[in-house]
Amino acid sequence: MSINPPVLTAENPADGPAIDALIDRAFGPGRYAKAAERLREGRDPVRELSVVARFGDAIIGCARLYAIMIGSTPALLLGPFAVEHAERGNGLGAALIRHACAAAQGAGHGLVLLVGDEAFFAPLGFAGALARRVMLPGPVDQRRVLVRALKAGAADDLSGSVRAVSAQIADNA
Ligand SMILES: CC(C)(COP(=O)(O)OP(=O)(O)OC[C@H]1O[C@@H](n2cnc3c(N)ncnc32)[C@H](O)[C@@H]1OP(=O)(O)O)[C@@H](O)C(=O)NCCC(=O)NCCS
Repeated sequence: MSINPPVLTAENPADGPAIDALIDRAFGPGRYAKAAERLREGRDPVRELSVVARFGDAIIGCARLYAIMIGSTPALLLGPFAVEHAERGNGLGAALIRHACAAAQGAGHGLVLLVGDEAFFAPLGFAGALARRVMLPGPVDQRRVLVRALKAGAADDLSGSVRAVSAQIADNA
């Protein structure tokens, strides 16, 4: 780990190429086959809520948020989420998730959905049980579909198909 801690800030439009390169290194070409990618393609992330970890001029971690609907409920899709290989295992991944969720909560959002390992995300407030009746576009291991409620009751009776919406809609949460 670097001696000075990285600084976590909102994503800027100019960060795009560095974030794409980081995501490519972390996931490889398989990233485009993911069901969640169907919700991201052709869309911009909600940049003011998406988080990057900066170390000097380098971006060493990112957690992006995209605007979605789950049935008739507005929500945010978290991901891609990645930390540079050499910087892993020091808590930066968890810090990025906490920061992104806090930004979303501060902006008035009620729900964050992601596809990931519950063992990693449960301590960060995500649960598969909340997402049992949530359907992603394309094949996915349903046990990896996780939701975190940012407001009390926001995930009650959550069900429906997930679809992408424009980032501007998320501004009006
Ligand atoms: C997932 C990732 C962002 C975690 O970053 P990180 O900075 O290492 O995360 P943290 O340091 O906060 O947490 C590390 C801990 O989580 C565990 N962990 C990391 N990824 C995990 C996963 N997918 N499933 C379960 N546990 C995981 C590690 O074993 C470690 O546990 P330990 O502290 O008990 O040793 C990073 O490993 C990465 O970029 N991986 C490749 C891309 C990826 O898989 N993204 C997530 C898609 S859902």
